[in-house]
Amino acid sequence: MNHQKLIIEGGRRLQGEIAVQGAKNSLLPLLAATVLCDGVATLHNCPRITDADAAFRILDCLGCKCCRECSVVTVDAAKMANNQVPEALMQEMRSSIVFLGAILGRCGSCRWSTPGGCELGPRPIDYHVESLKQMGVEVVQEAGYMNFTAPKGIRGAKIALPFPSVGATENVMLAATTAEGVTEIHNAAREPEITDLAEFLNKCGARIAGAGGSTVVVEGVPKLSGAEHTVISDRIVTATYMCCAAITRGELLLSRTKQDDLSPILPLFRKMGCSVYTYDKDKIYINARKALRAPGKIVTHVHPGFPTDAQAPLMALTTVLPGTTIFEENIFESRYKHAAELGRLGAKINVRERIAVVEGVPRLSGAKVSSTDLRGGAALVTAGLACEGITTVGEIQHIDRGYEAIEDALRSVGAKIIRK
Ligand code: UD1
Repeated sequence: MNHQKLIIEGGRRLQGEIAVQGAKNSLLPLLAATVLCDGVATLHNCPRITDADAAFRILDCLGCKCCRECSVVTVDAAKMANNQVPEALMQEMRSSIVFLGAILGRCGSCRWSTPGGCELGPRPIDYHVESLKQMGVEVVQEAGYMNFTAPKGIRGAKIALPFPSVGATENVMLAATTAEGVTEIHNAAREPEITDLAEFLNKCGARIAGAGGSTVVVEGVPKLSGAEHTVISDRIVTATYMCCAAITRGELLLSRTKQDDLSPILPLFRKMGCSVYTYDKDKIYINARKALRAPGKIVTHVHPGFPTDAQAPLMALTTVLPGTTIFEENIFESRYKHAAELGRLGAKINVRERIAVVEGVPRLSGAKVSSTDLRGGAALVTAGLACEGITTVGEIQHIDRGYEAIEDALRSVGAKIIRK
């Protein structure tokens, strides 16, 4: 149980520079991929977040040796001895499912406890399981467990995903890397994290083509070596800090970003009236000193659409913009839990199923609120920066899953925020 809170005294304009951390959603599949490597894998730009710690514990219990020095992590999977992730670790990190494809690729079998739901509504794994079955994996369910085995080895297959699921695409890529023959993934997810995973695997000797497009082709190879790789910048953390700049009418320079990955997001900030400039390959400058306005409608979609993960922090920003903003959430059910908490700060938000309508109010006022999930928690911090008075954000273990010391980053650019 985590009793820590973030206490924010709102009303300070943010100004300064934040170097954006590496991407959680890239790091986790990359760590899973190290399981397939025969030699040592070295990952640079690894953020200090609790989801990464959970992934290290999984690697540890599989018998892999992990070592972290600052933002550099090495994983040696040479002596991997186990093919089972304990249920407690599964529960700790829902996205541990991405280890399934890698463990199967390495060991040819895996025992998996059936994951429960999570704070974003039910998160089924049927696409993962059906795809693996097509690759020769047999699945037997027994009291709370799924036993995966590939008696004749994992074989390449033509897989058409019913939906371009990020996790399912990653799992199939991981299982296919050392499978026999060629795997084609049609309707693959096109998120930047997929491209990052393919780049790392290819450095290790895999043969993956088409990542970032709708069809990914994996030609199985007998084994992978280790390699060195730098985790891509976190586009959702960048988007969150842009929201923090805008809501405080501030001015931020975000460095170590990956500009291309933000193409679905930057135009929206310009539409709201912010000045946004990109330069030097990795820098984004945002200035929100002019009057801002509501952006109209925001529809979440798979990449390159507006990312569902940025919906909550953006909603926090729109609560104080003159006009009406309509959100349409198309990826997850139950992804508006933060709306009620924002309401406690004075926001006017009406939620009906996949639609949330935000009527901008002139000001928010500080109150005690609770993080409902990772991005919902970041939304409350964003809102707290603009509140009159003190905002106390509880349940911040959700935020720590994906944001590296969010209070330090914000304090360094002028926010009054402490962890207690
Ligand atoms: C990943 C990201 C998450 C992001 C999401 C969408 C990680 C660790 N997490 O989650 O931050 O919000 O992509 O960009 O990278 N679905 C099924 N059956 C399945 C798999 C998915 O019905 O077997 C559904 C899900 O319920 C959801 C949709 O497909 O409605 C998209 O899910 P998916 O792309 O798989 O998201 P994750 O990989 O879980």
